[in-house]
Amino acid sequence: MGLLDGKVALVTGAGGGLGREHVLALAKEGASVVVNDLGGARDGSGAGSVSMADLVAEEVNAAGGKAIANYDSVASVEGGEAIVNAAIDGFGKLDICVNNAGILRDKTIVKTTEDLWDPVIAVHLKGTYAVSRPAFAHMKERGEGGVIINTSSTSGLNGNFGQSNYGAAKAGIAGFTRCLALEGKRHGIRCFSLAPVALTRLTDDLPGMQDDSLKERIAPGLVSPLVVFLASELSGEMTNKTFYVGGGRIAEMRVVTADGVQKKDEGGLWSPEEIAARMPEILLD
Ligand SMILES: NC(=O)c1ccc[n+]([C@@H]2O[C@H](COP(=O)([O-])OP(=O)(O)OC[C@H]3O[C@@H](n4cnc5c(N)ncnc54)[C@H](O)[C@@H]3O)[C@@H](O)[C@H]2O)c1
Repeated sequence: MGLLDGKVALVTGAGGGLGREHVLALAKEGASVVVNDLGGARDGSGAGSVSMADLVAEEVNAAGGKAIANYDSVASVEGGEAIVNAAIDGFGKLDICVNNAGILRDKTIVKTTEDLWDPVIAVHLKGTYAVSRPAFAHMKERGEGGVIINTSSTSGLNGNFGQSNYGAAKAGIAGFTRCLALEGKRHGIRCFSLAPVALTRLTDDLPGMQDDSLKERIAPGLVSPLVVFLASELSGEMTNKTFYVGGGRIAEMRVVTADGVQKKDEGGLWSPEEIAARMPEILLD
């Protein structure tokens, strides 16, 4: 008995890295999986190599699981619909949607020209929308709930030097997911964001990632058990959570608001000088 017997999942950007590990982990627990990957380079250019998704699907099928490959881009509404339809046409339904596809085009802000901004926003933020919308619609219509797991990043949630395009998209994904979770509650559609950390082709040339021991210490497979937990009944009715996950560490992340200060007189209108005086109480610790 697998934790996901009878379930149908899709994972975008699953030709390598984290997505491939998610597919293998979901399939190992009995899920039938659509393995989506456009097959492009790390920066999103040169799409068209179908072999990335095919190889992962073949790996699952060779191990006795069920997987089909899909090569559509997440970055358009048509692509998102086609990916969801691949699950519905291939396996009859969709229970688990893992939005994982991603690219990087890092530069400091002044060098972040439109050609570096738009594709990163398109693949991550629009891509998450483009796949989630038809996935959510299908789950809602079917009336049997579902799980949507979106891939954010500490770059978006905490910030990272030289990644304003990527960070904006990833923070957007976290916000998008929180809204989706609220809308999903009444339909039993549970939604989560992940901020993973793993050594993959996306991160292997980033500063500090050249140490050989990291291949094991932050291997992408260390992230996937959380995906399986969230996708399975083990997570019960849990929804609307964001998790840091990588290198063996799993920790909830949250946007917090300090108690702050409340002005009761003068219609709540603070003077700048009063704000300056009370700033220690306004700030979080
Ligand atoms: N590796 C990390 O430490 C880390 C940290 C934070 C967030 N992430 C996020 O995790 C996700 C997976 O990244 P990874 O590290 O495994 O990198 P990766 O490059 O191995 O995987 C990303 C995959 O997405 C595919 N892809 C790109 N554009 C696509 C499109 N338009 N349609 C479909 N597929 C497309 C690529 O071909 C690639 O196989 C990404 O969203 C990334 O931003 C990774």
